[in-house]
Order: sequence, then C-alpha cells, then structure tokens
Amino acid sequence: MEAGPHPERASASAQGRWDFAKGYALRPQDFWMLIVGGKTDARIAQLESASSRNAAFEAIYGECDDPWESFNPRYSYQARKYNTVMSLLPPGRRYGRALDLGCGLGALSLLLAARSDYVLGVDVAQTAVAHARKRHGGTANLGFQQGDIAALPEGIEGRFDLVTIMDTLYYLPRTDDAGLDAVAEQVAGLLAPGGLCVLSNHLFAGGWDKATRLSRRIDRAFCRSPRLALVSRSWHPFFQTTVLMAPAEKSLS
Ligand SMILES: C[S@@+](CC[C@H](N)C(=O)[O-])C[C@H]1O[C@@H](n2cnc3c(N)ncnc32)[C@H](O)[C@@H]1O
Repeated sequence: MEAGPHPERASASAQGRWDFAKGYALRPQDFWMLIVGGKTDARIAQLESASSRNAAFEAIYGECDDPWESFNPRYSYQARKYNTVMSLLPPGRRYGRALDLGCGLGALSLLLAARSDYVLGVDVAQTAVAHARKRHGGTANLGFQQGDIAALPEGIEGRFDLVTIMDTLYYLPRTDDAGLDAVAEQVAGLLAPGGLCVLSNHLFAGGWDKATRLSRRIDRAFCRSPRLALVSRSWHPFFQTTVLMAPAEKSLS
C-alpha cells in the first residue's frame, strides 16, 4: 500500500515559524545558565582530550550531578524549553512506546511519560542513567538504559511511536553530512509507521555561529531522509525544534 498524506503533516507553506511568545522572557540568571552549559561543554572537550568522548560524558556526570542544570530551580529556561518541546507535539495524541535518545537526567523523558504508555531514556553515560533512575524511580512507565546513539544496543530497535533527541546530536563523533545522514536513517528505522521524531537543538546569534550551523545541518540531514516527512519546524530563543514523521503505512512494493 502506498504511504498516504497524514493529517499531522504540515502543508508546504507552514514548515517553519518563529515563536517568541513561549520562550522570549529570559531572566538574567537564564543567560548565566547558558554560560554554565558552555563551560560544561568546554570541560567535556578537556576530559575528552585525555580519554575518549564517551568517557568524558561519564566523567562529567561523576563531577557534577546536573552538568547542564536541567533540574536547577534557579533557572526556568530549561524547564520552559522542555515544556515548549512538549507543546509542539500534535495535540491529543498519545504514544505507545517513546524513546528519548541522549536523555541525560531524564527531564524530557519524565514529561513524555505523561503522554506515553512507556518511555525509555537512553544515554551514553552510565552515571547519567543511574542518576535518572534514582530521580524518576517512582514513575512506573519510565525506564533508563545505557546506550550509544552511534551503536545502539540490541533490543533497542523499531517500533517506537515517538523518538526525541534533544541537545545531543552535536556530540556524536561524526557530524559531517554523511555521518548525520546515517544517524537520520537509523532513527527513521526505529519509528513505527506514523511515528514521530522530534529534534531540538541550539539556535544562537542569528545563525552564523558554529553551533547553529551544526543544528541546521542536523535538521537538513533528517529532512533529506526519504523515510521521514517534515511535520513542523519552529524557532525559539535559543533553540529550534523539528518534528518529522515516518510514513503512516509502509509501501509493499
Ligand atoms: C546536553 S545533554 C542533554 C540531555 C537531555 N537530552 C536534555 O535535554 O536534558 C547531552 C546528553 O547527551 C548524552 N550523549 C552524548 N553523546 C551520546 C551518544 N553518542 N549516545 C547517547 N547519549 C549521548 C550525554 O551523556 C548527555 O547526557
């Protein structure tokens, strides 16, 4: 059967929008939080030069319980970002199995659990997984597992109704176009028919900085996948979110 148009798929004319209302009122301390995130990334680069990238993530979670301040109540920015990403999911839809890749401490995974039958958070750092399990142990439909997006362990394979990847793909060892295309294909292969993939990545300084250029290339790689269709793309200070969908039904040809 041919894959048909899906009601959730955006029209070609509505494939991107700026939304200031949901995240523009940044407080001074939120800017500080962005600086803390930058310092964490610099520390990861330093640790990586002495070991490997994956070991650097392990080490950063050993040095600090919450390296990107995901749960620090002093900063509202991260919480608003997670809530904004949730608000971009098509309204009224509930998900069977959801997968949060690069879940960190599971802040987004926890929100996904309210709209899913089961959520699996996967992170390359075993220490992050241990912290996440401890934080969210009371949520029965939320589990965490160690795994590398670049080489997912056996058992993490299709059919997820939702896959989220937030602020993680920049850290992959290969971020050239071929490497990103390969990740996009892999993620597309994890989706059930009609399943959604949600990417959220940096958007700074009008787009000419290195981080934003990489975010754009990630977005383009996923949009070029023949197995994914763009549902929506939106921009907020200081992140962009892309929602894509696997065809509702697979072609039998
Ligand atoms: C900036 S944090 C974002 C965490 C979470 N997505 C959030 O938004 O709160 C990036 C996370 O990606 C994880 N990570 C980095 N490379 C990874 C990989 N290859 N596979 C899985 N997780 C990875 C890190 O350990 C870290 O927890």
